[in-house]
Amino acid sequence: MQSNLSSKPQSKLHVGIIMDGNGRWATRRQLSRLRGHEAGVEAIRRVVEAAPDQGVGTLTLYAFSSDNWRRPKAEVTALMALLRFYLASEVESLVRNGVRLTVIGRRDRLPNGIADAIGRAEAATAKGDVLHLRIAVDYSARDAILKAAANAASEGDLTREKFSDLITGEPGLRDVDLVIRTSGEKRLSDFLLWESAYAELHFTDRMWPDFGGEDLAEALASFHGRERRFGGLQPVSPELTPEVAL
Ligand code: IPE
Ligand code: IPE
Ligand code: MG
Repeated sequence: MQSNLSSKPQSKLHVGIIMDGNGRWATRRQLSRLRGHEAGVEAIRRVVEAAPDQGVGTLTLYAFSSDNWRRPKAEVTALMALLRFYLASEVESLVRNGVRLTVIGRRDRLPNGIADAIGRAEAATAKGDVLHLRIAVDYSARDAILKAAANAASEGDLTREKFSDLITGEPGLRDVDLVIRTSGEKRLSDFLLWESAYAELHFTDRMWPDFGGEDLAEALASFHGRERRFGGLQPVSPELTPEVAL
C-alpha cells in the first residue's frame, strides 16, 4: 500500500447549505411563497456575514436546483427576478467584505441578462479573499458529474483530484466538510454529491428564512464534536487525508 500525504494550504472549512423551507415559512404566515424567498435573501446576508468569523472559507449555497424548473412559471420567474436583484444589490457589500462570489450550475437556460450579470458580479468580486461564496443556480450534481465524465474522456491518467477539478471547475477546491439542510427535510436533492463524499451532515428544523449566524454556529459546534475518520480508525484532519492507493 502506497500513501502520500497531500497537504492542502486552505484549512478553513467548506460548508454547503441546502436553503430549504422558504415556501412553508411563508405559507404558515399566510404570505405568498415569494415573500418566503425574499426573507430567504435576508438569511443569506446574515450567514455570509457570520461565516468568516466561524472558520468558514468556502460557503456553497443551493439557491435553485435544475429540478426547480418544474415549479409553476410564476414562482420560477419570481426566483429569477430575486437572483437578478441580489446580483445587482449585493456586489458592493460583497466587495467591501472581501467576499469572492462564483455561481455554479448551468447558465444557458437562465433568463436574458442574468448570465451577464453573474459574469459581472464574479469579475467585480474576484479579488475577495475573506470568503468564497458559491451560489448554485440551475445546479444538478449529477449533471455536473456527467459533464465532467464527458470532458474526462480526453484525460489520460485520471485521478480523483483531476476529476474533482473537472466537476467543480475550480482547481484545488476543498471537499465539502459540512452540509446543512434546513426545514427538517433529510435528503441531498442532487447537491454536491461528489464533493460531499465525506461531509458531515447537519439537519435542522429551522426554516431557511429564520436561519442566522447562531444557527450556523450551532451546526459548526456539532460538526466540531464529531470524529472524522475517512475510513480509518483514528480521527484525521481532512488536510492530512492520505491519498491511499490500495
Ligand atoms: C427553498 O425553499 C428555496 C428553493 C428551492 C428555491 P422552498 O421553496 O423549497 O420551500 P418549501 O420546501 O416549499 O417550504
Ligand atoms: C432543494 O430544495 C433545492 C434548493 C434548496 C434550492 P427542494 O425543495 O427543491 O427539494 P425537494 O424537492 O424537497 O427534494
Ligand atoms: Mg423545498
